[in-house]
Amino acid sequence: MAKPQPRYVCQACGASYPKWSGRCDACNAWNTITEEAPRETAPKGLGGGRRGHKLDFVGLAGAEAEAPRRATGIAEFDRVTGGGLVRGSALLIGGDPGIGKSTLLLQVAAALGAPRADGRATARCAYISGEEAVDQVRLRARRLAVTDAAVQLAAATNLRDIVASLDHAEAPDIVIIDSIQTMYVDTLDSAPGTVAQVRTSASELIRLAKRRGFVLLLVGHVTKEGVIAGPRVLEHMVDTVLYFEGERGHQFRILRAVKNRFGPANEIGVFEMTDGGLMEVPNPSALFLAERRGNVSGATVFAGMEGTRPVLVEIQALLAASPLATPRRAVVGWDSARLAMVLAVLEARCGLSLAGNDVYLNVAGGLRISEPAADLAVAAALVSSLSDIPVPEDLVLFGEIGLSGEVRAVSQADQRLREAAKLGFAEALVPPRRGRRTAGPEGIRTREIAHLQDLVRLVAGGETPARLRAAGGGPRALDS
Ligand code: TYD
Ligand code: MG
Repeated sequence: MAKPQPRYVCQACGASYPKWSGRCDACNAWNTITEEAPRETAPKGLGGGRRGHKLDFVGLAGAEAEAPRRATGIAEFDRVTGGGLVRGSALLIGGDPGIGKSTLLLQVAAALGAPRADGRATARCAYISGEEAVDQVRLRARRLAVTDAAVQLAAATNLRDIVASLDHAEAPDIVIIDSIQTMYVDTLDSAPGTVAQVRTSASELIRLAKRRGFVLLLVGHVTKEGVIAGPRVLEHMVDTVLYFEGERGHQFRILRAVKNRFGPANEIGVFEMTDGGLMEVPNPSALFLAERRGNVSGATVFAGMEGTRPVLVEIQALLAASPLATPRRAVVGWDSARLAMVLAVLEARCGLSLAGNDVYLNVAGGLRISEPAADLAVAAALVSSLSDIPVPEDLVLFGEIGLSGEVRAVSQADQRLREAAKLGFAEALVPPRRGRRTAGPEGIRTREIAHLQDLVRLVAGGETPARLRAAGGGPRALDS
């Protein structure tokens, strides 16, 4: 038999190669490919094994049992999971180190294990930490004031021990593994944290979860260096993938469902990291707009959707005359390619000259927006900064911009308008509504913007584009 060749595996996405290379062709990450021990067992096919059992095929119709869910009582978490944790399912919670994954899961475990009125816990939770000692977790529990919850703690990394402790009829209802990258299977040669170890450990645990019917919550660190395998190598194995995100400097944390077999994806839950742990933020729009200062040029409010939930955020743009031959374009919280497109459309279709300006764009509050519906709000912020004319404080915008400068309809316009009206906004600039003319929700005037030129005229307060072009050197030039 041929000697097994070494394999080279990308620790970010799990792609494997016969040779080492600096960049992974599958996910374009650099320096993430490391050598792993070859797979010992070559695939043998089915010859020589036991005879298979016949499958029991059934029709599509039939009484399917509604998956029993266990709500945690943490509303923001339950929303993201689609109403609670489903028996026998596996969830992956990914995020940067230090973002608050252990804190979140300890709070979830504590909420589920909290004593009820009759003194018994709603669910039995086991929290297995491979990173921290039991005392460290206890210290955190004290800080979170949840020490009276029925949570079984253990520090372990050997999967054989963990499986032995969970594989019985009295298995807990919820099992938390923090983190999957610290777990190892002793029959594999590769080190903990490699793709092989992470995948094998996860698949053993997932199998056990299905068999014993417990909910499995796996923590996965996102890594940039590729020293340990990232959570992406597990995404296809689990039922639900949640990412916990946030800017390190901000206290806001966003839990986002990117895959969910038991609920809607793209749903978000918003938390605030405080001294006493994570607090729910039931009304994120109010929070994201809390520090807004009115009457400033370059700031607009975007009426966005995150999953099924409307979220209003402030978009800030700053244009400044640039001394550089290639002016800077810096973006926080939005897609830089999308910004380049909006800038190009403003230049080509509205005759604005932006080439000599540095452009900074910021989504306030640390939220990351991925909707093209933000185009109109971004364009308005840019024009407002360029002309140094503030947009009215009580104005919101949404709409996608096409390459010819046309403004395109976006989904869920009514929900966006309702949220804006609720928060006291009086006017909305929206894409033209196709066909059916319905009045928007009460309390908010809508004005349809068909083309970006109309927006420029409106925002720059009757300024013709030609006048703005003359001011291309920067907003100050307008005063002279
Ligand atoms: P942690 O949950 O350990 O992050 P992860 O498991 O994702 O690596 O959270 C770490 C950060 O959270 C740490 O910088 C301290 C901060 N923190 C608070 O601000 N308040 C708290 O109550 C707790 C428990 C942590
Ligand atoms: Mg942790």
